[in-house]
Amino acid sequence: MGSTTAYDALLVHPDRAHRLHVYPDEVLRTKSAPVVSMDEGVRSLVAEMFQIMRDEGGIGLAAPQAGRSVRIFVTEEHEGQPARAFINPTLVSLTGAVVSEEEGCLSLPGIHVKVRRPPVATIRAMDEHGTVFELADDALLARCWQHEIDHLDGVLIIDRMGPMDKLATRKALRALQRGEVEE
Ligand code: NI
Repeated sequence: MGSTTAYDALLVHPDRAHRLHVYPDEVLRTKSAPVVSMDEGVRSLVAEMFQIMRDEGGIGLAAPQAGRSVRIFVTEEHEGQPARAFINPTLVSLTGAVVSEEEGCLSLPGIHVKVRRPPVATIRAMDEHGTVFELADDALLARCWQHEIDHLDGVLIIDRMGPMDKLATRKALRALQRGEVEE
């Protein structure tokens, strides 16, 4: 990178390269800024995010989990759908009766909670080459897109869990807050 503007600093943190950020890291609570130009910084961050997602065995990863507060997430290939990068994603529509399903999050190791979400989603985003695309899904990916966009707004699954899960995860969350990562 040539310059070191504040925007560039959102994309490149040499000290944070290739690292998964785990709760209660502040970056997970920071609202992400839109990507303003599709450049090499964006593409290298996307590549790094795919790497972290695969190292950790996740199906999706949002930029805050890589320590960057920009509106980018990636998803792994799933049932014939290729792995993809979503840049400046927006949910165009969310429909269907709300369904409660268990979710986990790479940034909350050992935590699994029921999260209520609409089952059908249409999403619009840009890929890493600047091409706008729109996709619809009514299963796992629809849930994953909502989970990852939550990350871009600083929202975690523990913000959406019900009272039963709140009680059940209390000890595990405290351990994470003390920096004890459960595998
Ligand atoms: Ni997550």
